[in-house]
Amino acid sequence: ALVSMRELLDHAAANGYGIPAFNVNNLEQVQAVMEAAKEVGAPVILQASAGARKYAGEAFIKHLIMAAIEAYPTVPLVMHQDHGQSPDVCKGAIDLGFSSVMMDGSLEADGKTIASYEYNVETTKKVSDMAHRVGVTVEGELGCLGSLETMKGDKEDGHGTDATMTREQLLTDPEQAADFVKRTQIDALAIAIGTSHGAYKFTRKPTGDILAIDRIKEIHARIPNTHLVMHGSSSVPQELLAIIRQYGGNMKETYGVPVEEIQEAIKHGVRKINIDTDIRLAMTGAVRKFMAENPEKFDAREWLKPAREAARLICKQRYLEFGCEGQG
Ligand code: G3H
Ligand code: 13P
Ligand code: NA
Ligand code: ZN
Repeated sequence: ALVSMRELLDHAAANGYGIPAFNVNNLEQVQAVMEAAKEVGAPVILQASAGARKYAGEAFIKHLIMAAIEAYPTVPLVMHQDHGQSPDVCKGAIDLGFSSVMMDGSLEADGKTIASYEYNVETTKKVSDMAHRVGVTVEGELGCLGSLETMKGDKEDGHGTDATMTREQLLTDPEQAADFVKRTQIDALAIAIGTSHGAYKFTRKPTGDILAIDRIKEIHARIPNTHLVMHGSSSVPQELLAIIRQYGGNMKETYGVPVEEIQEAIKHGVRKINIDTDIRLAMTGAVRKFMAENPEKFDAREWLKPAREAARLICKQRYLEFGCEGQG
């Protein structure tokens, strides 16, 4: 059943667990998440980016998620719009039936220019007012995602900015976070702590100087009733990189956010953990392996099946690691 994000996050807070929010773009990814959730009894957050809506088309995104609700009636499910760049985009998602939206006012509507604090407050408040009138949950973002190793912002697939930033911009300030939440009345706050989107987050296994879990503790202490959201939270498993490389893929050495760091963050107010890249890596590895081992096969279902299976496994693992078992 379609449920409210706010209710799911409140339940996660009351019971001390975190919910992975998986990005979906197509049938197999939706099925993989739902099957994993059903198996372990987890609540589901399916999120669609602007890129997903463009890739699949509005009607397909909507009805793929509606199909998930119909096929898995007992699983509580949130339909969330990831990284809305403007109030108009958020309004479009609400009209389409999303039960939760993210207004990402850390950047201006062009998706590149670093926004002023006042711009972020203003646009986020606008979405908050509009969404709350119709029972839709709102996630805002304060601080810029980017690397504390290179001091550069997070630019992936043509969105975001790779401008050089200061430590202040790359780490959410607890005092400003309190002001932001008070003025915007958002339900959940995405924070910047040194993670970035995509596979290339860290050049080494991250330590506290480049992945600021301590900052989460300070923010949570200041705004204990706001649900915190971690973006760029794929763990980039070395085993998945190894499979991709073994079957002809070209991926440089790289490290993601260790699961044990996410588990620590969950102890300090993080309730929603965004994951896209790990599913991409799992599916790509599985397809590469299948193609290499079965050069004579050409039925798309035959290679989509192992891809879907690999996605299911990573989703199930994250549900278990974040404490979602039996919470759905
Ligand atoms: O925000 C980043 C997510 O990984 C979605 O990526 O914009 O390529 O769909 P995308
Ligand atoms: P990853 O690229 O680490 O999977 O992050 C996804 C994300 O934050 C989507 O909003
Ligand atoms: Na993004
Ligand atoms: Zn994100």
